Amino acid sequence: MSLIKTTSIRSLREIILDYNCNKIACVKILKVQQFNMFSTSSDLKTSSQTKTIDYQSYLNTVGKLRKPSLIREMTKMLATAPPGTIFMAGGLPNPALFPFQSLTVELDSKTKLNLDQTALRAALQYQPTSGYPPLHAELKKLVQHFFNPPKMSDSELIVTVGSQNALCSVLEMILEPGDAVVVPMPVYSSVLSLMDPHRPQYLGVPEDADGMQPHLLKEVLNNWKGKTPKLLYVNPTGSNPSGVVIPSERKRQIYEIARQHNLLILEDDPYYFLHFLDKDPETFLSLDVDGRVLRFDSFSKVLSSGLRVGFATGPKELIRVLELSLQASVLHASSLSQVLVHGILKSWGIHGFVNHTTKVKQFYKRRRDLMVASVEKHLKGLAEWNLPQGGMFLWMRMLHVEDTYEMVMERGIGEKIMLLPGREFMARREDHCPYLRAAFSVIPEDEMDEGMERLKALIKREEGLQRRKQ
Ligand SMILES: Cc1ncc(COP(=O)(O)O)c(C=O)c1O
Repeated sequence: MSLIKTTSIRSLREIILDYNCNKIACVKILKVQQFNMFSTSSDLKTSSQTKTIDYQSYLNTVGKLRKPSLIREMTKMLATAPPGTIFMAGGLPNPALFPFQSLTVELDSKTKLNLDQTALRAALQYQPTSGYPPLHAELKKLVQHFFNPPKMSDSELIVTVGSQNALCSVLEMILEPGDAVVVPMPVYSSVLSLMDPHRPQYLGVPEDADGMQPHLLKEVLNNWKGKTPKLLYVNPTGSNPSGVVIPSERKRQIYEIARQHNLLILEDDPYYFLHFLDKDPETFLSLDVDGRVLRFDSFSKVLSSGLRVGFATGPKELIRVLELSLQASVLHASSLSQVLVHGILKSWGIHGFVNHTTKVKQFYKRRRDLMVASVEKHLKGLAEWNLPQGGMFLWMRMLHVEDTYEMVMERGIGEKIMLLPGREFMARREDHCPYLRAAFSVIPEDEMDEGMERLKALIKREEGLQRRKQ
């Protein structure tokens, strides 16, 4: 009975009020809730014995007050209910009325993905918030294969609407106004967009060619006199915008510092399968002996960004709170997309997936090389850059232009060229920033040279304007 005291389980009185049901029916509902909360509650118990992390202490009021949605919990139960269960619990639309009879997707000239009736029904129906169960199981295998987390038994995984949705929900359940957050400098601009409204204090840690610098991380944290930071955000493989891949040794150092300061690490890694190294990088999740890493993966860059499928992996308690948040917001990632991703992964197997991502890596590496060759030809003496080790971007510092914002936003279009000004990736966007981000992912190969020639003209013009102003 002690479980009933768990705050996540709602009282009989509350249920009677909410569902307007009689006492016996509500006792049944309560049992269902207890059943569903079992794993969470016992995990909480075990983890408090074996881990030193108090996950509740990271949550803000919203995170703490999220409660399970009974309807969503029922949908989860339905997925594993014994055959013959008569389901009257949820308002599932009747699939007989869905105007779809069959769906076949051609993967290449030899492989077709034909959704059978069961798969098609699943693709058109609501699914548990944690994900389409066969995909969920497949992703767990993938995580084990590629990341082999030391605390897999204390971890959980949830399918998300790309990684952005997961990042957004996690930040919304953790951040409080004025919280200090550790970010690399530069940092993925859309994560700033997520955090900005929470008015955080950004503790920016400058990168070098290997990413966030541990000695500066230490310095920033040791010198910080404000509110104790809870989070360290990092985008470790082929980072957006700088293209760095943090080497293993540096990851270990960063992880150690995060331990000393009791930081949760948000490992946002959508370019993991898009690095240009000989060996797959180690991940923070692979190093995570404490359970302080929440990892965000995405199929956007390797299968399709329009599918909007990603997954988050991390400590059970945090994934559970993320699940509660998604139960209340998006309900779940698109069922059709999840069924397709499952079909592809099943048909390829790990081997086929590795073959595919190898092709993806080769494709982007070639483009990186072409862009760097054009930049070397046209921008020597005007800009400097590091060779991107992964991802889709070349990050360049203008040598004689103080700030690229107006150059790009006001005069770039005149030269018929579009790039992103570096300011967008800086925690202090009011400061001058001499950087630019050029994406090599979709520019046609035969336009790279022309593009860099136009950039050269734009930079020269800007340098002239700047000289005249001085
Ligand atoms: C670093 C980083 N994180 C997250 C995302 C969002 O990706 P998704 O499509 O999985 O939501 C992107 C997309 O560009 C990204 O560059």
